[in-house]
Amino acid sequence: MNVSSWLRESPIQRLDSELIIAHILGKERSFLHAHPEYEFSETELAQIRAATERRASGEPLAYILGYKEFYGRIFKVTKDTLIPRPETEALIIEAISLRPKSVLDVGTGSGCIAVTLSKELPSVSISAVDISKEALAVAKENAQKHHVQIAFMQSDLLSNLHKEQKYDLIIANLPYVDKNWTWLGAELSFEPESALFAEDGGLELIKKIILQAPSHLNPHGHLLLEADQIQHQTIIDFAQKSGYFESVKKADEKSALALVLQLR
Ligand SMILES: C[S@@+](CC[C@H](N)C(=O)[O-])C[C@H]1O[C@@H](n2cnc3c(N)ncnc32)[C@H](O)[C@@H]1O
Repeated sequence: MNVSSWLRESPIQRLDSELIIAHILGKERSFLHAHPEYEFSETELAQIRAATERRASGEPLAYILGYKEFYGRIFKVTKDTLIPRPETEALIIEAISLRPKSVLDVGTGSGCIAVTLSKELPSVSISAVDISKEALAVAKENAQKHHVQIAFMQSDLLSNLHKEQKYDLIIANLPYVDKNWTWLGAELSFEPESALFAEDGGLELIKKIILQAPSHLNPHGHLLLEADQIQHQTIIDFAQKSGYFESVKKADEKSALALVLQLR
């Protein structure tokens, strides 16, 4: 079987097929266009078949390839980490515009936010926590791969931080999906539940961090959250009622899921 006949017969989208083949052959996609006559070895064909079956059954491509691109860089992902989403890049843009000198990324997962901020803001001190030690192991690998120093710690939200640990910015893309939302896609079932879902309409962890963050923010520090737009008003009301936060920047079109709260 050669490249062009496989691509003709493959049951999955052509781009996915090309990415799978290129990954298995250890080549660029351009190699496939330049060499449509390339004959797969038996081992290659078996690997391509197995990966194609996984994709055809709905598994996200990122888990099959073992990586995902985020803000122009490649991040390792495993079944223990959420797959970084393009919409989360809005948090990076917001974070950069706040000009922090120290940042804590809560629920770091693959480390995509912490590593990206380290690369984009090299003079800023970056720390990151996650409740999952498996996710933290992946985040550490990504930090090494991108040659950045990040202080990682396992913690349930901010509970393991010393009280003197304070930051200009706490950034948190925590689980905020409500299991009852009817529009959820089937691909989500491949990702860790603990990275996606939260009780209380998806707001349990977000409400907790709104109450915990003030003790770990410097004066006028910011809490930058990702949440679904349908949750934003409830979060704003909760943050204002807490008495800790004085200004709130709502999402605009470019940063549809980002919410910025400023400490009073
Ligand atoms: C939505 S994922 C975000 C991952 C990554 N920051 C990103 O943007 O792709 C949420 C992450 O929060 C972590 N998490 C869930 N509950 C947590 C908790 N109570 N404390 C700290 N991290 C938590 C999960 O393990 C997961 O890695």
